[in-house]
Amino acid sequence: MTDRHSQSRRLYERATESIAAGVNSGIRKMEQPVPLYFKHGSGPRVWDVDGNEYIDFQIGQGALLYGHAPAGMAEAIGAQAKLGTHWAAQCELEIEVAERLRAMIPSAELVRFNNSATEVVLSALRLARGHTGRPKILKFEGAYHGWADEGLVGFCPPADKWGDDEAPTHLHPSQGVIPEVLDTFVVARWNDPDHLRRQVEKHKGQIAAIIFEPIMCNTCCMEPVAGLIETIRELCDREGMLMIADETITGFRFGPGGAQKHLGFVPDLTILGKAIGGGVPFAALAGKKSAMQKIIDGTVVHAGTLNGNPLCLAASKWCLDHLAELGDKHPRIPTQLGLRLMEGLRALADKHDIPLRPQGPGPVFHAVMLKAGAAEGPVREYRDYVRRQDAPRWAHLRICLLEEGVRAIERGLWFISVAHRDEDISEALEKAAPAFARHAKEWKPV
Ligand SMILES: Cc1ncc(COP(=O)(O)O)c(C=O)c1O
Repeated sequence: MTDRHSQSRRLYERATESIAAGVNSGIRKMEQPVPLYFKHGSGPRVWDVDGNEYIDFQIGQGALLYGHAPAGMAEAIGAQAKLGTHWAAQCELEIEVAERLRAMIPSAELVRFNNSATEVVLSALRLARGHTGRPKILKFEGAYHGWADEGLVGFCPPADKWGDDEAPTHLHPSQGVIPEVLDTFVVARWNDPDHLRRQVEKHKGQIAAIIFEPIMCNTCCMEPVAGLIETIRELCDREGMLMIADETITGFRFGPGGAQKHLGFVPDLTILGKAIGGGVPFAALAGKKSAMQKIIDGTVVHAGTLNGNPLCLAASKWCLDHLAELGDKHPRIPTQLGLRLMEGLRALADKHDIPLRPQGPGPVFHAVMLKAGAAEGPVREYRDYVRRQDAPRWAHLRICLLEEGVRAIERGLWFISVAHRDEDISEALEKAAPAFARHAKEWKPV
């Protein structure tokens, strides 16, 4: 049998000689059957170095909301590059981008720029502690807020270390973390407003902020149950905590106003990443003026050599203008396409008796592969996800899909971009059909 990935394998082997573990972000090492090397992309499609074409639902881990190499973006970046790549000073472009964000996002009275959402999370948490004079941050079990010490507390704890339902453990998956950081986090289970109230009560007067992804995209794409967001807002108002919406993924994906506009709430601070730059390293902290006060007066430090870099600003301005041009097509069309794809995948799963249950709002969704005998119904929180998700079985189906030219994310997430069209969804489902058949034939429980 020919190896469809021989060039990627060769490059990966070569990379391990000069790049630690051969990759520049730990998670990429997990890609099966081999970390792939890409040559070019266009719209919703991408081609690897072996010449394989994929309909891409990984889409730069969600950053490429506008697709690969969208027409006009390269010109915008190129025009700026000719004028200068970096000032480490001010330029009018940064005001233009800030003004666009203010007009789009309900909570964005003021903004500050960074180069990754991980940095913005750190900025937001520091600001919240400075603002309130309190040490602790409440976050939700299983939620990912970047790879730093503070972003990963309570992310994917192993089942034997969960602690009881009422007091989830606040572990970190990495060694080398400053131990005291762990004690500054209170972890609550997602989608249990009463439990959240009890956690806040237990740590009364010590919590500076509640940070959350409005739809927990990173972990099973779990939408908030009725009343959860309202409870977070109410508790933050009552207890003087800041409400921090991490919209790194949800921002712009549900329209220019992000999940906050879509779900109807106004956070104190918002973290924006990924689609704000359409694939360049750009991210922003947006917030109410009152919450940004300590950055204004300089008592909370926020800095960075490459912040407000003109190349990234040029890209971001192009992205935000493109969103505005789409008008009501976004998120209407990506939502329709996503729901159609979810339905089609579910129909294929049913045909082959595969327990795949896509869940999520549409522009992003998670393909939950149920373990044999696991209960049906939406997964609503991290522990339930771990108990019910059959990760090895999904991994097998994902490779079958990849080999047919349909690219989803290793952990089960799928993104729809504004460059996907009805024909791409039809073709993806046509290609998925033999992948499901092969999986049904080959899959043997491990
Ligand atoms: C919700 C959320 N917050 C923060 C981050 C960190 O973003 P970055 O990788 O740009 O630092 C991510 C990245 O996936 C994310 O999904």
